[in-house]
Amino acid sequence: MPKDLFVFDAYGTLFDLAGAARAVATGDARVAPMWPALAEDWRRKQLEYSWLRTIMGAHADFAEVTADALDWALEARGLHDSALRAALLEAFRRLPCFPEVPAALDALAARGKELAILSNGTPDMLAEAVEEAGLAGRFRAVISVEAAGVYKPSPAVYALVEAETGVPPQRVVFVSSNGWDVAGAARFGFTTAWVNRGAAPLDRLPHGPARIISDLAQLEALA
Ligand code: LAC
Repeated sequence: MPKDLFVFDAYGTLFDLAGAARAVATGDARVAPMWPALAEDWRRKQLEYSWLRTIMGAHADFAEVTADALDWALEARGLHDSALRAALLEAFRRLPCFPEVPAALDALAARGKELAILSNGTPDMLAEAVEEAGLAGRFRAVISVEAAGVYKPSPAVYALVEAETGVPPQRVVFVSSNGWDVAGAARFGFTTAWVNRGAAPLDRLPHGPARIISDLAQLEALA
């Protein structure tokens, strides 16, 4: 069956998560020496809180989860500064996309593929990120987990793709840099591509990726 809808994870796949701490570090002597570790803790806690809230049945949207995770990461470094907190959250809303993304999306579109996003982000966060990164107009659908009220990798999230586009899982290629997201998507029934930008080990989870690529430029070969 032809795959005609390419669905992308947002954070870490299209948008460079390290971009927020990196941008703020240029103007802040406290953040400059340790921004990579701050960014890593922030992301780790953001994901932990998303999974834990889903398991607990205590959903809060991704803007709240992201702010909570940042508060943990700042406190862990003894940084109590509301202006710094605000600057990091603001920067998170304007993350850059990875450099190859616009051309890679255009190459898929030129081959007649439709494009969508499926992300933990809120509708507002995703709309702003797409606009700020210069990707407006490229996606048939920008789908937020908010419609399901739980986070990835719940099957209820992946089911939103067919609910919102009418395209069944057999016609979808799901693309994510998060191995656990790929596993959830593959278990749901999507063909998957794992974007392994950092040459990380394969996650020891059921349902491995159908393809492993090092960046989105390699997607054209799968179209
Ligand atoms: C997302 C998270 C997983 O965009 O990065 O859904």
